[in-house]
Amino acid sequence: MTALDTRENDAAPSDSTMGAVPSFDVTLRIRRFNPDAAEPEAYWEEFTVTAHGTDRVLDAMHKIKWEVDGSLTFRRSCAHGICGSDAMRINGRNRLACKTLLKDLDISKPILVEPIKGLPVEKDLVVDMEPFFASYREIMPFLITGGNQPSAERRQSPEQRERYDDTTKCILCAACTSSCPVFWTDGQYFGPAAIVNAHRFIFDSRDEGGAQRLEILNDKEGVWRCRTIFNCTEACPRGIEVTKAIQEVKRAMITRAF
Ligand code: SF4
Ligand code: FES
Repeated sequence: MTALDTRENDAAPSDSTMGAVPSFDVTLRIRRFNPDAAEPEAYWEEFTVTAHGTDRVLDAMHKIKWEVDGSLTFRRSCAHGICGSDAMRINGRNRLACKTLLKDLDISKPILVEPIKGLPVEKDLVVDMEPFFASYREIMPFLITGGNQPSAERRQSPEQRERYDDTTKCILCAACTSSCPVFWTDGQYFGPAAIVNAHRFIFDSRDEGGAQRLEILNDKEGVWRCRTIFNCTEACPRGIEVTKAIQEVKRAMITRAF
C-alpha cells in the first residue's frame, strides 16, 4: 500500500456513515374525521414513523400520507412558513406544522395533532376557512383613497412606514383567531387576524378608510369583544404583537387619532 492509499483510507468515512443524520421513531396521534363515513365521527389514530433530527411535524405527516395512509388529509403549500396554510393544533398549541421541529417536542410520547379550533372541520385537519376570510374581507384589507389618481407614487417616510410594519407580516394562517376563547364561543367575533389586518391599513398614512374600518370594528362583534388574553400573540408564527395591535385599534377608536 502506498502512502497515498493509507491517507485516503484514514480520511474517508465509509459510505454508510457519510453525512448520516441520526434517526428516531416518532408517534403522531392525529385527530381524524371522515365526512363520508357511514357514521361520521371524529376519532384519534396513531402512526409511528422514522424521522430525522432536522424533520418538522410536516415531514412526519408527509411520510404518513405518502407511505402509510394516503387518505390522511391536511393543507400545506410552501412548507416554509410563508403561505399560512398548515396551521394546526400541535400538543395543544396552535402552530405551523412546517415550522415545528420534532426535536423541539417531547417525542417520548405521542405528539397530538388536531385541527385548529372554532372553525367547522371538513376532513381530518382541514377546516372551513370561509368564516375567517369573511371577517377579513369585511375590514376592507386594501388601500382606500379618494380624489384624482396621483401623478406620482404616494410617498411615505420611513417613520410612517414603521408605524404599521408589524402588522404587514400577517400570512393569514388563522393561528391567532382560532386560539381565541372568545372566537370559540362566538364565531361571529371578527377575531384577531381581521383586526391585525385592519390595523395594517388604519395606521397607513396613505390610506383614507381608517374611520370606516373603525366604524366596522366598533360593532358588538368587533374589538370590544377582545378580553386581552394574549393567546393570539403567543400563537402567531410571525411573531406579530397581535394583542398590542388590537389595543392600538381600541385606542384609535376612542381618541380618533391614527
Ligand atoms: S396575525 Fe399571526 S397568527 Fe394571526 S393570521 Fe396573521 S400570521 Fe397568523
Ligand atoms: S406550508 Fe406554508 S406556512 Fe406552512
